[in-house]
Order: sequence, then structure tokens, then C-alpha cells
Amino acid sequence: MVQNLAMGDQRVPRRTGSGTTPGPLIRPGTLSDVAGIRSLESRYFVGNLTAEQQQSGFVSVIQPEGWFERVAANGGLHVAIDGQLGVVGFIVVAPPLHAQRPSVSPIADRMVELADTLEYAGQPVSSYRYALRGPVCIDERFRGLGLYGRFNAATKLAYSSTYEIAMLFVSARNRRSLRTTTTKLKATPLATFEVGDNTYHFLVYPLGAPPIR
Ligand SMILES: CC(C)(COP(=O)(O)OP(=O)(O)OC[C@H]1O[C@@H](n2cnc3c(N)ncnc32)[C@H](O)[C@@H]1OP(=O)(O)O)[C@@H](O)C(=O)NCCC(=O)NCCS
Repeated sequence: MVQNLAMGDQRVPRRTGSGTTPGPLIRPGTLSDVAGIRSLESRYFVGNLTAEQQQSGFVSVIQPEGWFERVAANGGLHVAIDGQLGVVGFIVVAPPLHAQRPSVSPIADRMVELADTLEYAGQPVSSYRYALRGPVCIDERFRGLGLYGRFNAATKLAYSSTYEIAMLFVSARNRRSLRTTTTKLKATPLATFEVGDNTYHFLVYPLGAPPIR
């Protein structure tokens, strides 16, 4: 049964072999979630996966010390919590400056630069109230169960009055993530850019209620 939960908390049933049990709870992330987030981040970091494992998606950046704590303190973190396993997914939607400082991500730096020149719906991306979305990561045991869509719905609910749009990057080699962002999140690819030997897509999607302008 779906429980009645406080605003910001969402739980939906998940089918199992023996019937229907509640799926992971989605709620805003707190400092106490960071250890579980770090564990997922490390497990699915591109450098820790074989080429075959990377077919199911990967995280491109290990965030600097204190980064998730700062994002959580600024309200930019959501987590999915399983009753037994703890944190089984997380997503960040935060202003680029909160998300970046101190920046160790040349990818995020390049995104912020490009936001001044790339246009979305006829206006530079940086002219909107915009967030930087990502990383998003789901434990492989919980993929394909609708959690990605629930993260999208929860973050839309949480941030639609704060931001007009969100920008995100996806590695050109991360086919799974490219599929979800374009077909499920319905983000629009605006450009590709290179950092080191890797190519990334720059995408934008509407986060606030339309019309944006
Ligand atoms: C990206 C991620 C959050 C998506 O969540 P998910 O639960 O796997 O998403 P879904 O299962 O709803 O959708 C995945 C889609 O990609 C498709 N897919 C799976 N592997 C694919 C591949 N190698 N190439 C293309 N499409 C692929 C699936 O068929 C599915 O599409 P469909 O539902 O239309 O059939 C999750 O896979 C994940 O955490 N991956 C590791 C980390 C990551 O890549 N994060 C994103 C970059 S920060």
C-alpha cells in the first residue's frame, strides 16, 4: 500500500516475486546520506568499471571532498532509500556555483562557459534561472524499475519554482544515460564539447512551468 508521507517524500509500490512491496523512498538528501552516496559514486565511477559494465552507464566525475555535504545543505540533493540497503540512488540539481565550488571538474567549468553562448528557445542558457543537473546514479539492482522517472518527477516538484531550466552533460560513450535524458527526461542536446580525450553532450530541459519566456 502507498503510505501517506510528508511533502518531499514519495514512495511507490514495487513488484517482487512474492507480491507488491514499497519501492525505495525518495526524499531530500541530508548529511547522513553522504556515505551511501559516496559508495554508489565509487562503485559506478567510469574508472572502476570494465568496458562491458560501462554499457549500463557510469559516473564521469568523483566529486571533491565536502561537495555532497554542501549540495545537501543547499537543498540540491535527493536520494532513494531502500529499507534494507539504505541509499540506492541519488540525484543533484543545484545552481552551478554551489555545485562547483571548489571546482575540480573541468567538465562543469566548460558547461558554465558554454551557458553564455549556447541558446535555448532563442535565449542564452545563462539568461535563464538555471540549475546544473547531475550526477544521477541508481544502484544496478534498482534500475529499470521506474526510479529514474520518479527522480525526475520529485526534482520537478521540488525545483520548478526555483529554476526555469536545467543543463546537464552526458558522456557520448554513456549510451544508457543519453537514452534516458533524451527520451524520458526529454532534454534537448544543444552541442557537444571535448574535455581531455572525451566527448560530452550539453543538454537542457525545462524545469519551471511553461511558458519560460
Ligand atoms: C542512468 C540511470 C540513472 C538511468 O536509470 P535507469 O533505471 O537505468 O533507467 P531506465 O531503465 O528507466 O532507462 C534506461 C533506458 O536505457 C536503455 N538502455 C540500457 N542500456 C543501454 C545501452 N547500452 N544503450 C542504449 N540504451 C540503453 C534501456 O533499454 C532503457 O530504455 P527503455 O526503457 O526505453 O527500454 C542509471 O542507469 C544509472 O544510474 N547508471 C549509472 C550512472 C549513470 O550513468 N548516470 C548518468 C550520468 S551522471
